[in-house]
Amino acid sequence: MTDSTPLSPAGDRHFDGLVEKFAGSLYGGPRGALRLAMLDALLPEMLELDGQPLLDVGGGLGQLSAWFARRGHPVTLLEPAGDMLEQARQSLEGLPVSFMRAPLQALPERTPGPWPLIACHAVLEWLSDPRAALATLADGLAPGGQLSLMVFNRDALRFSNVVKGNLQKALDDRLEGTGKRQRLTPISPLSHDRIVAWSRQCRLSIRAVAGIRVFHDYLRHPPASEDDWQRLVALERRYCQVEPHWRLGRYLLYTLVKEGDLPTEGNVR
Ligand SMILES: C[S@@+](CC[C@H](N)C(=O)[O-])C[C@H]1O[C@@H](n2cnc3c(N)ncnc32)[C@H](O)[C@@H]1O
Repeated sequence: MTDSTPLSPAGDRHFDGLVEKFAGSLYGGPRGALRLAMLDALLPEMLELDGQPLLDVGGGLGQLSAWFARRGHPVTLLEPAGDMLEQARQSLEGLPVSFMRAPLQALPERTPGPWPLIACHAVLEWLSDPRAALATLADGLAPGGQLSLMVFNRDALRFSNVVKGNLQKALDDRLEGTGKRQRLTPISPLSHDRIVAWSRQCRLSIRAVAGIRVFHDYLRHPPASEDDWQRLVALERRYCQVEPHWRLGRYLLYTLVKEGDLPTEGNVR
């Protein structure tokens, strides 16, 4: 296979040329439907929403931007891949969304904020330096501002490799993709422990966490009927924030809140 989608100069995997592939494998079929259904249920519970402006970083085809825009949030969608952005622009016509072609790393110059609400879903795992990216997102938030962060879960990737029989790969802990081919295995899958440590360093508090697709991706057989599908959705919803299940969700969804400024000596009581 040709190396048709090289990494960006920063070593990130921009999704140029991947509109079809991305739409099919991440959003096509039951996996995508379940992801959207879970977000639809969880975002209003995990975030405090009052129509505040949203910056959607690495917004892709714009499904998340659309969700917020339809609920009255003015949205700015930042996305480095030109064809993804163009597709998003067409799909979101008529909604209060503005579009900007830029990578996350340009956020300080292009959309400095400070923002009351930032979303960054399924992007950090495609970057060569996700820790620096989280710091950039934290810098863009206003004190008390919320970051809705979703990351591809490295622990779930190990588990699914074992379930699929890729035992040597799991034993060698070779879980990362190279990002150089058409395959959509992330180059920097992330563990919960890392998010905890990095959030602390960025002065972000974890207000809530949930696993997205805690059962679906390990099923031996897809649900055979609409009734079974509804049962699966009910199970996903019931256990997505319950120990130990959330920890093996294919994605981990966080609400991170930027801590306020520490009081200076003059106003400490
Ligand atoms: C898996 S898609 C997720 C899209 C969208 N956030 C969603 O949840 O549907 C990852 C997106 O991150 C974008 N991306 C890659 N590197 C990026 C960077 N440095 N800054 C911002 N976005 C980036 C890709 O182009 C792609 O659109």
